[in-house]
Amino acid sequence: MMNELDLVIHGGLLVSDSGSQKADLGIQDGKIAAVGLNLTGKEMLDASGLMVIPGGVDPHVHLNMPTATTVTSEDWFSGTLAAAHGGTTTVLDFVEPLPGQSLHEGLQARQSEAEGQAWLDYGLHMTIADVKLIPQIKSLVEEGVSSFKIYTTYGDMQLNDYEIVAVLDAVKENHGIVMVHAENDAVVRHATQTLVNEGKLEPRWHPHSRPALAEVEAVQRMIYLARVSGTNLYLVHLSTGGAVKAAGKALRDGQNLVAETCPQYLLLNRERYQDENPEMAAGFVCSPPLRNPNDQQAIWHALRQKTVLSIGSDHCAFTIHPQKQVALGDFRTIPGGIPGIELRYPMMYHFGVRSGMLSPEQWVALCSTNPAKSFGIWPQKGSLMVEADADLVLFDPNKEFSVTADHLHEKVDYTPYEGFALKGFPVMTIIKGRKLIENGEVLMDKPTGNYLKCGTPVIPA
Ligand code: URP
Ligand code: ZN
Ligand code: ZN
Repeated sequence: MMNELDLVIHGGLLVSDSGSQKADLGIQDGKIAAVGLNLTGKEMLDASGLMVIPGGVDPHVHLNMPTATTVTSEDWFSGTLAAAHGGTTTVLDFVEPLPGQSLHEGLQARQSEAEGQAWLDYGLHMTIADVKLIPQIKSLVEEGVSSFKIYTTYGDMQLNDYEIVAVLDAVKENHGIVMVHAENDAVVRHATQTLVNEGKLEPRWHPHSRPALAEVEAVQRMIYLARVSGTNLYLVHLSTGGAVKAAGKALRDGQNLVAETCPQYLLLNRERYQDENPEMAAGFVCSPPLRNPNDQQAIWHALRQKTVLSIGSDHCAFTIHPQKQVALGDFRTIPGGIPGIELRYPMMYHFGVRSGMLSPEQWVALCSTNPAKSFGIWPQKGSLMVEADADLVLFDPNKEFSVTADHLHEKVDYTPYEGFALKGFPVMTIIKGRKLIENGEVLMDKPTGNYLKCGTPVIPA
């Protein structure tokens, strides 16, 4: 017979990717142990009027990420706590091995950085920027890394098509998934050089340096290359109507792929680069850049149609003062990336579910279940099933939240979403059965997150 449950959350509406029901949820030893009616436990938590949802899984963050000139302002401690305030309970970051480092050494270095600092369980994707490292992919899969990230642009990170095919083949052989940042490098370099020749170096020119079709071409090419080798493909941060259309066609053709977008491509557009204060414009410099309203509409449509199946924050925070500001004179040197780890889940509720664009189940799928499936951590994460980790959020659909940088916990001096008014916000974040945050207050005294081994990807439908 089952021991008495440690905690019962009762009276709430359980919302998962597959449906919603009024039921109690029982937790024992950090795991979901029962779902049913009239459960009793040592502690009873009243969730009347609240949704009980699986904690968010953010598949795309950059904590403590070095660039050529600086490092992202957000570290493991601050970033995972900010994520938890917004209802995210698992993050997936990247390893970028240094020159001369093996994949294993790169992985170990990232694990040591996060050790004792991460409030949440975290997994790691491996960046492959050098094909000499391909033979090490097999052992990395054994160490819990099943996703391998490549770039079709970005200087030293870039692989050519021959190299891309080699990575795709190796990842397929090891039952993993290839993630790609897809922009046509030649188009980006040529557009950039033209702007430089014309002396157009202010931040407002940044979007002109990375045309929409550069993304569309590279996404389409990656789809074809992945199809040739039969490899699972995860397209990160899609920003254009053309790219999501290509992804939709590939899905209809039966290809195994997951298209990701980010809240910034849905909620912000390139008008932001026209801010007369170049410091503000610099705050929106990211790659790919913010696009046109018609791209935003196309991506919303793709979410509704279940062509885009994953929402990542691509949280890549640099302060305006001094990190972005020192580089204002030349958009090429502004560190690229914008923050968003904290508000991903609630913003998608407000703008997705409240607006009628998405069902609550689709919202959970996009922000939690599908990312977990894509990287082989489902149903341990991203689910309300018995035996899943009890990483849960009590979400008040009526709680109002005014967005301003001072109300957030991200370690950066601005938010791109300043002034947004949200309705719907977490009131409690529970990790492995323990309350981490209640009404904005941190209840645990130190981080307890662990490295999470990722397994075989399951392509969400
Ligand atoms: O500008 C961005 N998105 N920086 C983060 C790195 C990347 O390309 O995802
Ligand atoms: Zn990228
Ligand atoms: Zn990124």
